[in-house]
Amino acid sequence: MPDLIIHPSGPLCGAVAVPGDKSITHRALMLAAIAEGDTEIAGWVPAEVCLATLRCMRALAAEIDELPNGRLLVHGRGLEGLAEPADVLHCKGSGTTIRLLSGLVAGQPFTTVLTGADPLRRRPMGRIAEPLRLMGATVLGRDGGRLPPLAIRGGGLKGIDYTLPVASAQVKSAILLAGLFAEGETTVREPGPSRDHTERMLRWFGVRAGTGGAGASSGAGGLSVTLTGRQALKPRPGKTLTIPGDFSSAAFPLAAASIVPGSSVTLRNVGLNPTRTGLLDLLLQMGGAVAEAVDLAAAQDPPEETGEPAGELAVRAAELHAVGVAGDLVVRTIDEFPIFAVLATQAEGDTVVREAAELRVKESDRIASVAGELRKMGARVDELDDGMIVHGPAQLRGTVVECHRDHRLAMALAIAGLVAKGPTTVRGAEAIGDSFPGFVETMQALGADIRWTQ
Ligand code: S3P
Repeated sequence: MPDLIIHPSGPLCGAVAVPGDKSITHRALMLAAIAEGDTEIAGWVPAEVCLATLRCMRALAAEIDELPNGRLLVHGRGLEGLAEPADVLHCKGSGTTIRLLSGLVAGQPFTTVLTGADPLRRRPMGRIAEPLRLMGATVLGRDGGRLPPLAIRGGGLKGIDYTLPVASAQVKSAILLAGLFAEGETTVREPGPSRDHTERMLRWFGVRAGTGGAGASSGAGGLSVTLTGRQALKPRPGKTLTIPGDFSSAAFPLAAASIVPGSSVTLRNVGLNPTRTGLLDLLLQMGGAVAEAVDLAAAQDPPEETGEPAGELAVRAAELHAVGVAGDLVVRTIDEFPIFAVLATQAEGDTVVREAAELRVKESDRIASVAGELRKMGARVDELDDGMIVHGPAQLRGTVVECHRDHRLAMALAIAGLVAKGPTTVRGAEAIGDSFPGFVETMQALGADIRWTQ
């Protein structure tokens, strides 16, 4: 397997687009498959995790054509059209695939078995097994249904009113997808603003999904979403479901341009859903120089039409200072902590992250893996049970680091390498293909000295 080699680089300059949003791609594949008619999808990302969802949907009898112009045409089969898969569904490393699909198949009157790669088989599934069982599905799995593989016998569901113990879009979405097939109303309440792509896309397909603000029974100032089951999803005649660029992928060139002195970079067509852009808020609080322009196309076809806001980000290098992160900002930044920690190593002062214990159950234990690998590069990072303290600024030094099969850690370490002294080698960096095919080429186009070893 090739490694990634990064040399300290001069200013990053230019304009690039980032690949489509993977969270939205998963949802587009699933919802279009149960809609009544054809949906054309543009801007999807052929990342490994999304290809896993595409294959699983085909195994559930969805008909999906790959069009020559990089688009997909999904022939929706309606709520009753999926069929029992002939084999185990393989979700690879994708938590979103296994959790959302669990909700979808919980609504089906057949049995589905879902598994994944070794790291996914260590990630917690009790959080979806519990509500799906309350709705009437049978969920079996290792450790009492807490670990994959999972075997789900669905059908005959009843709506529930469920309060999530932690804010999680995957769990919320699993319940909403099951709720589409259930009798009566399903309400999900959560303690923080997790990404709302499922709700937006359901509305795009004409499903009435009402949201509530603070005051959900959690008492934690949370949010709620309610839908009535058995509503048909209707593709919009003549409209393409257009997926914007992934903010979580844009986060890497955004951070790189902020810390490589003299840089000036423009990122085009970036998804700017506010449930995703915590890193942008943090970067601005840190003194980052980012200007945001709302995309003209999006302005003419407002978010209610496309489902998601998108825009352009122009970023220049800046002197950064430390900030504190907790609460809702953790939820809105949930996937960006590996790259945020790299930013914090270059900021003046102590950056403190708290209330972020969820990071321990991501693609890797991102508190331990981020702290451990950045320390190898000379960063001063203290691990906390529910977060970390990064003491900045630090002159990083190039060395050999491991990415723990975690795509975001691999990219974050590569960006750290741009401001380190001497070359950095990132082992296992092929994991980057899980979410950002073309990461290396994108960074090279901006002038970064980064390449594969073979
Ligand atoms: C995702 C939700 C988040 C995020 C993951 C994608 C989604 O997970 O970390 O990368 O697409 O719904 P949680 O819902 O577990 O926080």
